[in-house]
Amino acid sequence: MSIKSCITAVGGYVPEDKLTNLDLEKIVDTSDEWIKTRTGIEERRILKGKNQGTSVMGAKAVEDLMKKRGLKADEIDAIICATVTPDMLFPSTANLISEKIGAKNSFSFDILAACSGFLYALETGDNYIKSGKYSKVVVIGADKMSSIVNYKDRNNCIIFGDGAGAVLLEPSENGCGIMDTILRTDPESGKDLICMKGGGSARPATEETLRNEEHYLQQDGKSVFRYAVKNMADVSAEIMENNHLKGDDIAYLVPHQANKRIIEATANRMKIGMEKVTVNINKYGNTTAATIPLCLWEWENKFKKGDKIILTSFGAGFTWGSIYIKWGYGKSAA
Ligand code: UT7
Repeated sequence: MSIKSCITAVGGYVPEDKLTNLDLEKIVDTSDEWIKTRTGIEERRILKGKNQGTSVMGAKAVEDLMKKRGLKADEIDAIICATVTPDMLFPSTANLISEKIGAKNSFSFDILAACSGFLYALETGDNYIKSGKYSKVVVIGADKMSSIVNYKDRNNCIIFGDGAGAVLLEPSENGCGIMDTILRTDPESGKDLICMKGGGSARPATEETLRNEEHYLQQDGKSVFRYAVKNMADVSAEIMENNHLKGDDIAYLVPHQANKRIIEATANRMKIGMEKVTVNINKYGNTTAATIPLCLWEWENKFKKGDKIILTSFGAGFTWGSIYIKWGYGKSAA
């Protein structure tokens, strides 16, 4: 029988420091009311401190997961970190996380697929388990968005926050686990609509790139919004149809947290009631690769064994996708 991978533990970490809408009112021309109505966000977490990068949060999320599962660092075979805000270009953030947690027997690398990064990394980890060669793969979504957000740009600075979530994948022992995945990319439509132009090999840092503010994230929010709703709903409908699932069969929808209105529109198009949708954007904003694992972290105590869960995301690239999971632990679903 073929091997299936299953999430067997979830960990998470958000920094203590909060950036509220009222704080933002003091730095850009915005209002708590506008931000809440247009995005659903009330506050976000910000990682402060000198030389504190994404790996600090990623390592804390993995340590949380290890504690819950009783897992030792040297038992981990592979560490995959999805991020657009690596501590530095290389070594990878996953390399730095493996050093911080003391994982001596694993290989580690990053995946860059922006807000869809966690789903791309989960698909990768799933295939390592399915290969039969590895039995403990840690998949992390972590971003320190505050490091690339322009706090003079009111269109974007109100959206993003910092955080990290992680899951452990192991071979399934009860038939639950990752049942199906669909991942997509459309750079033709997306490459100019959310990007960070400076700092890569095409436009390395110069006085000009600094002057043009090319080292900040840029986004045409309105255009992205339309693609996000359509593509997240379409890909989720496709995975449900492929697996003969109706809205009623789904215990939870776990969408990327970019905007509460996008989440509601997606759920609506999928005919899934909001009581079945994980939403924590009000507390954390958009943490890019971390939103989905942070939702898993917050909701895992509510999930029951056998619950059918759809994860879905959309982000820069464009990249998007959907993953269908049968939750593997907790009380049994009725
Ligand atoms: O995670 C990666 C993928 N990203 C996304 O999925 C993000 C998708 N986009 C969005 O979430 C929304 O488009 C935003 C939250 C970014 C913007 O919301 P919107 O409802 O699309 O607003 P808008 O850009 O159409 O702007 C409406 C008005 C404009 O004023 P005028 O031109 O109508 O006078 C903006 O200048 O709101 C103004 N505005 C603001 N006002 C107060 C834009 N940002 C702000 C602000 N505070 N922070």
